[in-house]
Amino acid sequence: MKKPERKLMKAIAWTKYGAPEVLKLKEFKKPSPKNKEVLIKIHASSATAGDCRLRAFKVPIGFWLPARLVFGLIKPRIPIPGMDISGEIESVGKDVKLFKKGDKVYGTTGVRLRANAEYTCLPENSALVKKPNNITHEQAAAVLFGGLAAIYFLRDKASIQRGQKVLVNGASGAVGTASIQLAKHFGTEVTGICSTSNIELVKSLGAKKVIDYTKENFTKNKETYDVILDAVGNLSLHKCKKSLTKKGKLILINTGLLTNLLSITKKNVICGVAVESKEGLEFLRECIEVGDFDAVIDRVYPLEKTAEAHRYVDLGHKKGNVVISVDHQ
Ligand SMILES: NC(=O)c1ccc[n+]([C@@H]2O[C@H](COP(=O)([O-])OP(=O)(O)OC[C@H]3O[C@@H](n4cnc5c(N)ncnc54)[C@H](OP(=O)(O)O)[C@@H]3O)[C@@H](O)[C@H]2O)c1
Repeated sequence: MKKPERKLMKAIAWTKYGAPEVLKLKEFKKPSPKNKEVLIKIHASSATAGDCRLRAFKVPIGFWLPARLVFGLIKPRIPIPGMDISGEIESVGKDVKLFKKGDKVYGTTGVRLRANAEYTCLPENSALVKKPNNITHEQAAAVLFGGLAAIYFLRDKASIQRGQKVLVNGASGAVGTASIQLAKHFGTEVTGICSTSNIELVKSLGAKKVIDYTKENFTKNKETYDVILDAVGNLSLHKCKKSLTKKGKLILINTGLLTNLLSITKKNVICGVAVESKEGLEFLRECIEVGDFDAVIDRVYPLEKTAEAHRYVDLGHKKGNVVISVDHQ
């Protein structure tokens, strides 16, 4: 006998910005796709540093008002948080051409949020593509945040080239673990900066050299790099000038509005917000399918424990990624 269609779904609700406790499991009406949308049955999403910043509304200086205008001035405008998803297409709107029921997909909902849920709808032309076929949904959800940021900043903005030397600060986080693997994929020589307990992880991902930030200050070692990517937020052009080659580029992904504006006039500083695209997701899928990019998963939490996942991410010491798994039983 055919199962009756579900009318409700479980999802994480938030009605205010604040501590992880603002995230509560609730029942919502199951969404249905508009003509050009797909309905995705989500098997895994994630809890990222970005999700936690948004929840607590700890955004870089100068971005408070623009971000509040997007996400809700007094309280969150969109009732369900989360951005990364891996799942399968449950149904499609009547004008959808790119996907069909049963397709396994991965992608990001971006500013639409609504990823920490059993189901979500997305326009077919959004950052959503077929998922890599050699990894699980949990692994697919884990590669998105760091992978897409690394592609945007290292490939698209810094145009990294074979033979260059790349330094990654914050090498053991989501962006760091992705950046090392991507920089290696492009044939660069990668150095990672992390603490003692993460040295083996960072080496295993392809870093030729590792600098332990608890023992060494890289700005004093006289090495120079073609690209320095700072995923921590404790570097500046002033600090890094002597560590960059003549045409070297400094990527600051974690800076305030003023630095972002000043960087427009400086050829050697790259700032901004990563732009996600279908092309980026497809490129990431190729890297994964040829074995050049692995998911680095620290912990997996069930959907109902999303607040606990955020509490762990808030500590600032995760290794790679934290995944939210969705059990549809
Ligand atoms: N602009 C954009 O578009 C964009 C895109 C993506 C992310 N971001 C931002 O980038 C930042 C990083 O994101 P993420 O997901 O990679 O963060 P994350 O995974 O939470 O970073 C945690 C890692 O940072 C390491 N770390 C902490 N202090 C360090 C230090 N002083 N030196 C080196 N490593 C250190 C920790 O290692 P230990 O435990 O060893 O300390 C831990 O492994 C976040 O603020 C995020 O919002 C911006």
